[in-house]
Amino acid sequence: MSLLEFADLRGIAPAELTEAQAKEELACLAKELKEHDKRYYQDDAPIISDAEYDALWDRNAEIEKRFPQLKRADSPSDKVGAAPAAKFGKVKHSVPMLSLGKAHTEEEIADFIDRIRRFLNLDENQTVELFCEPKIDGASFAARYENGKLKQASTRGDGVVGEDITENIKQIKDFPLELKGDFPKTLEVRGEVFMHHDDFRALNKQQEEAGEEPFANPRNAAAGSLRQLDKNVTAERPLQYYIYGWGEFSSPIEATQSAMMKRLRSFGFAVVDGVLLENMASVMGYYNDLLPKRAQLNFDIDGTVYKVNRLDWQERLGAVSRSPRWAIAHKFPAEQAKTILESIDIQVGRTGTLTPVARLKPITVGGVVVSNATLHNADEIERKGVNIGDIVTVQRAGDVIPQIVNAERTANSKPYTFPTHCPACGSIAVREEGEAATRCTGGLICPAQTVERLKHFVSRDAFDIEGLGEKQIELFIKTGLIKTPADIFTLEHHRSTIAEWEGYGEKSLHNLFASIEQRRTVPLHRLIFALGIRHVGQATAKLLAQAYQTYDAFEKAMIEAADQNSEAYHHILSMDGIGEKVAASIIEFFHEPHNREVLTKLKAILTVEAAEPPDTDSPVSGKTVVFTGTLTTMTRQEAKAGAESRGAKVAGSVSSKTDYVIAGEEAGSKLKKATELGVKVLSEAEWNSLIGRK
Ligand code: IVH
Repeated sequence: MSLLEFADLRGIAPAELTEAQAKEELACLAKELKEHDKRYYQDDAPIISDAEYDALWDRNAEIEKRFPQLKRADSPSDKVGAAPAAKFGKVKHSVPMLSLGKAHTEEEIADFIDRIRRFLNLDENQTVELFCEPKIDGASFAARYENGKLKQASTRGDGVVGEDITENIKQIKDFPLELKGDFPKTLEVRGEVFMHHDDFRALNKQQEEAGEEPFANPRNAAAGSLRQLDKNVTAERPLQYYIYGWGEFSSPIEATQSAMMKRLRSFGFAVVDGVLLENMASVMGYYNDLLPKRAQLNFDIDGTVYKVNRLDWQERLGAVSRSPRWAIAHKFPAEQAKTILESIDIQVGRTGTLTPVARLKPITVGGVVVSNATLHNADEIERKGVNIGDIVTVQRAGDVIPQIVNAERTANSKPYTFPTHCPACGSIAVREEGEAATRCTGGLICPAQTVERLKHFVSRDAFDIEGLGEKQIELFIKTGLIKTPADIFTLEHHRSTIAEWEGYGEKSLHNLFASIEQRRTVPLHRLIFALGIRHVGQATAKLLAQAYQTYDAFEKAMIEAADQNSEAYHHILSMDGIGEKVAASIIEFFHEPHNREVLTKLKAILTVEAAEPPDTDSPVSGKTVVFTGTLTTMTRQEAKAGAESRGAKVAGSVSSKTDYVIAGEEAGSKLKKATELGVKVLSEAEWNSLIGRK
């Protein structure tokens, strides 16, 4: 999602928004923050910095404060994290895992203490002792012990339900599986899993060497490593943990936070270091002391946390929306510095995305030398008004890839023009409407995309070449034997070279070349799908094959369709399921001369089978059908192919547009829906007799 979509209102300060604008803006912010939450918590791959996220969150809170009546039921202020991902088992927290309110200034901390004093109605001479700790920037977790044995561990999730990570947490070195000392019968501890900076750098190096995406920062690396389906992957990751609190605690609780932390330490946990302070001056002293030390620490902290020390007061104070009144996070400002932007390079990703990277005059930001910063995309360059030669403010906010905050012109500043061609292969680069990314269209030849494209080309639903999996493709690319898909079919010319490699005995070579040979004849729809044209999945590939019948007719039509007044253009747009975006993507693909070169080669070596024309005389031609339940006389795939070859469209869900639902054994909700909507339901036998299948 691009921030630019909302740029009109973003320029207006919350105090100046009209009520109608505020309503619109709150809706946008809710949607946007939800998306960022998902990327952060579920995918462990955020696209904005923590500071940018906080700015959006604060803007939302400020607008809500001005227009309380407009606060949405799904307001981001009431949310903690994101719901657990479906791939993990779910764990309901016996005590909800709350989030912390945030403060940035001394004034906000003074307000926090005042609020506590008023709430508890304290005398002037009563002090509020605060237990102060660093705020660790990692992934939070809860771990439950029964009779001193680790029973279950979970992520925070949305604060109410988290993900089961029991097996993963056991892989963390020195994580207690059994408690020491005088532990309670039931105990749930809470803490943060994180990664040391040096371990993080080593891990990212490994990731890159293995051709995997590097992690954006140690926090993502920690969260991603903890949320692995395979615990063996977690075991290989250098994770650390600190405990900062507890959920359930069955035996009598101590009187203070500091005493509780001491007790948790006595059970064998690594507990975050805290100090007890009792006035504003000492709290600010703690914060200002830690701030410069942050750069020297081997792990990320993003602020300090202050907790009311007396537990009876914590109890009385309780929580407001999803954060306790008795604790607050005092955030550190993002680390910033100014330097010269010397040039902008374009990196081409594995899927063809062009990402601009700012090359900076090296500068130290928060203890780390920075010489590159991401600029994300063309919009970002425009939004930040970045020119080459500018003095830019660079910021690290828990992120390894620094961001550019703003730019100031110098006498040497020169405007930057985003390239129209891919720097890796020279093919045309395009930006789709409504999309932030610019992409290379030379999919078949672009060296940056070769691995992904070729893997797709040989994959099961495409050419399905046995013996040519991911690993082999990577090897053949690395050795230069394969550069484009056409090279697969001439691979046998290098037989003697390959025969010398380990693992390529006579038999496996024979099998490999036999399976390549077998795929020299290919149905048209598989070829179209294999080309990896953006937005062309299997269904669209089939649709296109049926519509154009032969490869030559398809190619000719796509070249003609570049003219939007042509009949060919109108024809492709008239197809059900093909809109302007899909059409544009296919036409661009065929328009790119480099792709055409490879296509010409492929055509020369392949025999492309024409698609069978659909049977328009069939009684089911033009009908939409849905198969449900277990079929006994054919597989699902057969049923689908049988229906499609008779001109029917096979849909995945039942709607009022469905003509027939074919219900096999144990049909469930789709059958129910068909009955409700009055859609005609056929048994498998009735369907077979309708289409004349014996
Ligand atoms: S106390 C009820 N203490 O920050 C409050 N949290 O924004 C529970 N965190 O979910 C949190 N260091 O993941 C607390 N010393 C610390 C912390 C800490 C890091 C994280 C934790 C929490 C988040 C809240």
